[in-house]
Amino acid sequence: MPAKKIIIDTDPGQDDAVAILLALASPDEIDVLGITAVAGNVPLDLTQKNARIICELAGRTDVPVFSGCDCPIGRTLVTAEHVHGKTGLDGPVLPDPQMPLQDLHAVDFIIQTLREHPSGTITLCPLGPLTNIATALTKAPDIAKKIAAIVLMGGAYFEVGNITPTAEFNIYVDPEAADIVFRSGIDITVMPLDVTHKALVTKSRNDAFRALGTQVGNAVAEMTDFFERFDKEKYGSAGAPLHDPCVTAYLIQPELFSGRYINVEIETRSELTRGMSVADWWRVTDRPANATYIGDLDANGFFNLLTDRLSRF
Ligand code: BDR
Ligand code: CA
Repeated sequence: MPAKKIIIDTDPGQDDAVAILLALASPDEIDVLGITAVAGNVPLDLTQKNARIICELAGRTDVPVFSGCDCPIGRTLVTAEHVHGKTGLDGPVLPDPQMPLQDLHAVDFIIQTLREHPSGTITLCPLGPLTNIATALTKAPDIAKKIAAIVLMGGAYFEVGNITPTAEFNIYVDPEAADIVFRSGIDITVMPLDVTHKALVTKSRNDAFRALGTQVGNAVAEMTDFFERFDKEKYGSAGAPLHDPCVTAYLIQPELFSGRYINVEIETRSELTRGMSVADWWRVTDRPANATYIGDLDANGFFNLLTDRLSRF
């Protein structure tokens, strides 16, 4: 099988960084056409910079990085420094990037790339709020039928919420954007908190990253060291959940994951439940299915894959 052509849309974020590293370490399965930054975990000036820091860490200055939307569609930006630190990539000390930021706006890169390639050959991988993707779909509705699939991290059903009692961060930040994406008719696979909270970096898994003895191995271990304090305090969990790497792992080894094809809709009107992803897991409505909603993963298989691929740097 030829490598899947993808665009990673991201708001790095330590877990975004690991997701990007996993993709860049897997050229036989994944061909990263570009990385588009969006405002989310931290403001846009930091997410685009962090995306370039990660490309340089991976030695992949050939991957173009684009800057996108700096705020959600019609809402004020909410950020998550309380999880990711002031820079968004707190933990390791990494040099400022030297590689340039592309001039083209991320939304135009997404549109242009989809128009230039045959239909059904490009998968979008959003790891942050869906602002860039929804803006591209609104600006150029013709691209919807060209997208092979969207595999995204966002939402929650059994785990309910992490930024409010009922909403997961990526969907909460820009619920209108998420609503546009979930109504688009595109083939969508969702990695919600229900699965990402099972992808926990335990001490032995973190030791395995560090034992790689490389710059990447150490950086990933230091990122997860930093990132885990939030979830340990909040949930009493064994370590940091690697939310976003579930997306890129799915592209490489989908058999590690299981889920259901169900209806998922986004709450945009209620103040109380803003950004809730209403997932009809039990199929109690007759609303049509629109997404493959992942509920479980083989966590050991996932970490074996990740550690093996990171060892390639
Ligand atoms: C999601 O929000 C961010 O904090 C993470 O990078 C991940 O994409 C988890 O809710
Ligand atoms: Ca993210």
